[in-house]
Amino acid sequence: MAGPLKRYLFTPGPSPVPPVARAAEGREMIHHNTPEYWEVVDGIRRGLGAVLGTRHEVLLLGATGTGAMEAAVASLVGEGDRVAVVDAGKFGERWSEMCRLRGARVVPVRVEWGLAVDPEGVAAALAQNPGVRALFVTHAETSTGALFDVAGLARVAHGAGALLVVDVIGSLGADEFRFDEWGVDCAVGASQKGLMGPPGLSFAAVGPRAWEAMEGRRPGSYYLDLRLHRSRVSARKHLCTPPVSLARALLASIEAVLAAGLDLHLRRAAALARAVRRGLSALGLELFTRAPLSSALTAVRVPSGMDSTALLHHLHRRYGVTMANGLGQTRGRMVRIGHMGYCGGFDALAAVSALELGLADLGWQGAPLGAGAAGVVEALAGEPDLWGGPSSEPGVAGASAQAPPVDAAPRGSGTPGPARGGGLP
Ligand SMILES: Cc1ncc(COP(=O)(O)O)c(C=O)c1O
Repeated sequence: MAGPLKRYLFTPGPSPVPPVARAAEGREMIHHNTPEYWEVVDGIRRGLGAVLGTRHEVLLLGATGTGAMEAAVASLVGEGDRVAVVDAGKFGERWSEMCRLRGARVVPVRVEWGLAVDPEGVAAALAQNPGVRALFVTHAETSTGALFDVAGLARVAHGAGALLVVDVIGSLGADEFRFDEWGVDCAVGASQKGLMGPPGLSFAAVGPRAWEAMEGRRPGSYYLDLRLHRSRVSARKHLCTPPVSLARALLASIEAVLAAGLDLHLRRAAALARAVRRGLSALGLELFTRAPLSSALTAVRVPSGMDSTALLHHLHRRYGVTMANGLGQTRGRMVRIGHMGYCGGFDALAAVSALELGLADLGWQGAPLGAGAAGVVEALAGEPDLWGGPSSEPGVAGASAQAPPVDAAPRGSGTPGPARGGGLP
């Protein structure tokens, strides 16, 4: 192939990182024990509080999302404790594996991949297994695209005297989340998804019941002990050398989200999700999931007889387009398309067009070429606010608020005006 191929990242994490965050990441190194770095940390903690909907403590960790999950388990669960886990996909499974490794007795509440989690079913499991210390759940199960009812699960957990611990790694910045209002006790998230940061940072929000539950207990980790992190932060100290550059990038991304408005950011993710799904259904493809869906990603089955691994390799090599395969039991049968964060309408269009081109290249003739793209355009027509990606310039309140280009026609003229001081290419 001649020359570099432009890359398109349509995976459900990492997601594309806006230029303002990449620029922040590339700045000259500073020491972490400086007012400059504390401004970064405080800015992230404040911003995350707004995105999570909490006034409680949010701690930043130098680890990926799995590290934050492990911090919650190491800090809240001890040997012999009884815990329950909603296991409806790969990441629910991960909670179970971690709790078992910690020596806990796990009550798994298994739900078939792609189906909804019914809080009443979870309530019944908790009633049959009294003494559960904490219920671990996933908000958006990235292996299937399903979104679970955290408010309902919080009611059920508290009704059984258990804490509610939620993995919001896949959902935050794409789906609404309300830590305080829903009564969540601990939520763990990561930088590289709907918040548009580079991978490598994670965080834990912790409410008063969870702090209380940690008192007098021996943590299962030094590096991931949430109480130790909290005491360091309140003394304005760091437990270790933090990933300064990643934190600067994450702050820039969160500021861009908040400058545009969290509401617009979530509405855009929802609109892109609808558009991608309309495009896929115009192609006659079947979504994997029958549960309520997260706006972060869409999991779609490949046509029978086709191997998604071959399709994804082809898209990557031929078109520079990266999407994700199914995980675990769905590998080879599914494509997962990320459309959260720094994505706009043209990304939705590119993703669906790439998929239909790739399917046609591999011999599939299920729909006329262009049908999927038409579905995306139809879904997004009339939603001009949602075509652009989130603004990546600090202080610019979203694509729709940007100044028009210098050669734009006066309002209402219907045709582009003459260039003043240089036109567009
Ligand atoms: C829902 C969910 N939980 C946990 C993880 C693991 O996070 P990380 O890969 O950052 O460790 C992911 C990442 O894909 C995820 O989507």
